[in-house]
Amino acid sequence: MLALEGLEKRYRTGDLALKGVSLEVPAGQVMALIGPSGAGKSTLIRCVNRLIEPTGGRVLLKGQDMTALSARGLRRARRRIGMIFQEYALIERLTVMENVLSGRLGYVGFWSSWFRRFPQADIDAAFGLLDRVGLTPFVDKRADALSGGQRQRVGICRALIQNPDLLLIDEPTASLDPKTSRQIMRLIVELCTERGLAAIINIHDVALAQQFAQRIVGLRLGEVVFDGPPSRLDAGVLTEIYGEEDWSQTVRHASEEGGEDDDEALDPARLAANA
Ligand SMILES: Nc1ncnc2c1ncn2[C@@H]1O[C@H](COP(=O)(O)OP(=O)(O)OP(=O)(O)O)[C@@H](O)[C@H]1O
Ligand SMILES: [Mg+2]
Repeated sequence: MLALEGLEKRYRTGDLALKGVSLEVPAGQVMALIGPSGAGKSTLIRCVNRLIEPTGGRVLLKGQDMTALSARGLRRARRRIGMIFQEYALIERLTVMENVLSGRLGYVGFWSSWFRRFPQADIDAAFGLLDRVGLTPFVDKRADALSGGQRQRVGICRALIQNPDLLLIDEPTASLDPKTSRQIMRLIVELCTERGLAAIINIHDVALAQQFAQRIVGLRLGEVVFDGPPSRLDAGVLTEIYGEEDWSQTVRHASEEGGEDDDEALDPARLAANA
């Protein structure tokens, strides 16, 4: 699905933020990208869709070289990439439904979208997605009247309505409470599995990454220093990624696996009530 080949980014300041990163993410895989502040996580995911121009290496999405595309080709290719970033925050004065439909802007012609005329199929798809994430009661609410968890779910719907092949997600749980964070991570993983999407999730919470991602990649100073299943993440690996510290309380131990906590299943009614 996605292949990075020797991806390099040197900022104009001279900072070498990515030092030749090579990775492959197959369809359906949810990969968590962890690492200390400044490791290059945001740079990496932004290089994938060329919001930041890589200075070396290649990004292949389903075999297509993103780094070689013209502006027009890039616009088309970006439709296949759903982004859930803080900067793509919701449009506050628009409703939940309108925010979700804005994810179709890459498809709907400019004038149609200007008049907010969307095909019925898009509206149906938006209702379907909002129902899936438990936001049916909120379709007509303005974005500025939502909680953090609700907003994040609208962002997820807006990314998914593009029918992407790949999701790029930068710190989806940064401003959420622990329970909502788990719900959002679970939702992302379930949706990726249902739709066969690949995802790169840049996340600071190691335990959350371990609980929900199928694969963890640790970045340090622009280099991959760990790449493996969550079960291999131990104190030694964390020291390699983050440096010396007492990690005993941070990692999820094998004995905790399976013994689920009180996480309820994603019951839409319950989500709506809690959110
Ligand atoms: N626009 C920029 N110009 C120059 N250097 C930059 C720029 N953006 C990021 N950097 C540098 O690149 C490196 C990687 O930054 P990046 O934002 O990718 O890190 P990160 O892993 O996402 O960190 P955080 O966890 O704090 O979000 C840092 O050393 C940072 O200072
Ligand atoms: Mg970042």
